[in-house]
Amino acid sequence: MIILGIETSCDETGVAICSDFKILSSYTKTQSIHQKYGGVVPEIASREHEKYLPNITNKVLNDANVRFKDIEAIAVTNGPGLMGSLLSGISFAKGLAQALDIPIIPINHLEAHLNSVFIDHSELEAPFINLLVSGGHTQLWLVKSMFNYELLGETLDDACGEAFDKGAKKMNLNYPGGPEIENLAKNGNKDLINFPRPMINDNSFNFSFSGLKTSLINCVNEDNYNFQDIAASYQEAIVDTLINKFIKAMDKFSVDSGIICGGVAANTRLRKKLSELDKKIIYPSMKYCTDNADMIAFLAEHKINNKKINFDNDFSAYSRGMIT
Ligand code: KG4
Ligand code: ZN
Repeated sequence: MIILGIETSCDETGVAICSDFKILSSYTKTQSIHQKYGGVVPEIASREHEKYLPNITNKVLNDANVRFKDIEAIAVTNGPGLMGSLLSGISFAKGLAQALDIPIIPINHLEAHLNSVFIDHSELEAPFINLLVSGGHTQLWLVKSMFNYELLGETLDDACGEAFDKGAKKMNLNYPGGPEIENLAKNGNKDLINFPRPMINDNSFNFSFSGLKTSLINCVNEDNYNFQDIAASYQEAIVDTLINKFIKAMDKFSVDSGIICGGVAANTRLRKKLSELDKKIIYPSMKYCTDNADMIAFLAEHKINNKKINFDNDFSAYSRGMIT
């Protein structure tokens, strides 16, 4: 089956073609325009999606040597995400589906992330603990099998990517803040400032990063430390907090394998610390960690294959919401 996937939940415009569970071609445009504002501007993000979707779709079709009339279904992210961005992708997908007279499959962005590891690791078998760490989410999931997931915990306030982004902004660094802080931290002392490791002693699998961000702001305002040391110590606190809950979840549910996805999974300090533990940790390849349409088309094909789909083009976007 040939499926065209569309992802526009935030500031990445992604289009991909999946056929027989293989990605034939894909393209993701990261909207760099937001950098000068220090964060994603929702109104601009929607316009950018609308502007680029037609050309990206043509490119992806050409690259795969697939014609419009070969497409058998369209998969599109319908939530959670920024409302305007989602609607740009959905409107484009609906128009195309109607013109081609083919079905359209709404896909939950989080469910797509959870399954993205299977795109290039088809040999893997659940159960896993999946730590989903992006600019908008920090969640711990028990993945029992494809289509069978349990949310164990999530952030009660800021996402960990947001903690990186907001911390970076306070230190006058560019957006996105994660790579900037990571870079600055290389020359800093991670043990100099004892930032809090929020909620690591409670029994839940929830997280909280807004207090940590406030500690950083206080530290910057005090003017006693250089930014390299602040960055290194701050990164260490975020990484320790994530690892603490991730490993606790693996132990509690006696699950051998852990998966990390989302943009923060790129963090080399996180990877280094995890590699020092006696645990099997798997990372989807980087292009599948960050937002992409490959995972949208891929999950849609699995849903069709497993008859988990009611074809009904009458759906809309939702900004918040769980996997149903
Ligand atoms: O998954 P993603 O590309 O987009 C969504 O938010 O959905 O994640 C972006 C987040 C940003 O907060 C960014 O600062 C963070 O991932 N990030 C990193 C690194 N690279 C990206 N955080 C820490 N270290 C990195 N190397
Ligand atoms: Zn995402």
